[in-house]
Amino acid sequence: MRVILFSGKGGTGKSVISCATGMLTSESGYDTLVMSADPAHSLADAFEMHVGDEPVRLAPHLSAVQIDPSKEMARSYGAIQDYLASIFTSKGIDETLAYEISSLPTMTYLFALLRIEETARTGQYDVIVLDTVPSGETLRYLYFPRLVGSVSRKLIKLMGPIAGMAKIVEPLVGIPAPNKSVFSSQIELIERMERLSAILKDNDQSSLRLVANPDLFSTENLKRSLMISGLYGINSDLAIINKIIPEDVSEPFFNKWKVAQAERIREVEDAVYPLPVKKVRLFPSELKGVEMLRKCGKELYGDDDPAKIYYKGVPFKLESRHGEVEITVRVPFSEKEDFKVERIGEELILKVRTKMGYAINVIPLPAITLKMNLKRARLLNDELHVIFREEDGKVQEGRGRP
Ligand SMILES: Nc1ncnc2c1ncn2[C@@H]1O[C@H](COP(=O)(O)OP(=O)(O)O)[C@@H](O)[C@H]1O
Ligand SMILES: [Mg+2]
Repeated sequence: MRVILFSGKGGTGKSVISCATGMLTSESGYDTLVMSADPAHSLADAFEMHVGDEPVRLAPHLSAVQIDPSKEMARSYGAIQDYLASIFTSKGIDETLAYEISSLPTMTYLFALLRIEETARTGQYDVIVLDTVPSGETLRYLYFPRLVGSVSRKLIKLMGPIAGMAKIVEPLVGIPAPNKSVFSSQIELIERMERLSAILKDNDQSSLRLVANPDLFSTENLKRSLMISGLYGINSDLAIINKIIPEDVSEPFFNKWKVAQAERIREVEDAVYPLPVKKVRLFPSELKGVEMLRKCGKELYGDDDPAKIYYKGVPFKLESRHGEVEITVRVPFSEKEDFKVERIGEELILKVRTKMGYAINVIPLPAITLKMNLKRARLLNDELHVIFREEDGKVQEGRGRP
């Protein structure tokens, strides 16, 4: 199963390009599901057909679903949320407020993403196209599986042994004890997140396509998304610049616009190299409806298989030699002074400063580095090289000799 995710600033054309992509893959014979977690009814607007929160078939190989993130959240997270709320209410917090606090609003889209994992398990589709929420947010959610996963695992380790007797100590500790269903839904959630994370980080399966318009804001956003996706181990395979004023527009009013757009396009091509860049013209009217979507898709992908992997870079590499381990992470567009590397226990925390704040990645360290120290971190071109070395390198060098 192929997973193609679209990301970009609002209004750049993610929804229509997602639909156009899905139409083309379905017409090439792939059973395709187009998913959206947009708050608006974007899929219904683009296809000009009804799309609900369960998949509906729109054409022979094409289905679409408009996910309702809050419903997904209640489904996957309800038991845990009830429990968290009961902790807050036991502390005298008003129940409505307790639910508000425990609802983790920033996580709702993560639960929408979990639909990918669920759909993958059914094996029903060859291609899933995800029309994502605005980019910065989306990528942060893609990163959550690790974070939530590791936090919850620690919690379970901590609470597991005492779960049975928690009811007895409840009056002493002063907080309600979690019951079995809280634990089982917690474990299930972690397992699902791990599977989701594995799908998204599998570069042979999932690709992120970055959509921008030829303007400063959205192209800056595209560059940032490329950097962050690289950090998170998600492969970006294509950049798409949409709404380019066509060559044959000759009204003098657009002359300056055309020059400025050409400049932006060149900038993006340089900045994302060797990632391929595809261009889509501005259509004479709003792009919607099956006919226009097909036309847009054909202009975008030409004779290509739209489900192919356009580009694959290695986001994360590990090499070990003579008591030393080198971890290489691809991080385009970050400045030398703009990153921090810290090792906390079994994890490497990478903080890269971007114009919109810090992007953080947590990389699980291989067991071999546990007896090593973080020695050096350097940025070479678009690669961050982190070196771990044994305390006493000489001992290691002697190893393996007859
Ligand atoms: N190449 C294009 N030519 C003309 N209109 C476009 C084009 N791409 C997108 N649009 C229009 O721009 C608006 C925003 O597109 P949409 O796909 O909803 O953006 P996003 O999902 O990124 O917010 C829609 O009205 C859509 O029809
Ligand atoms: Mg949209």
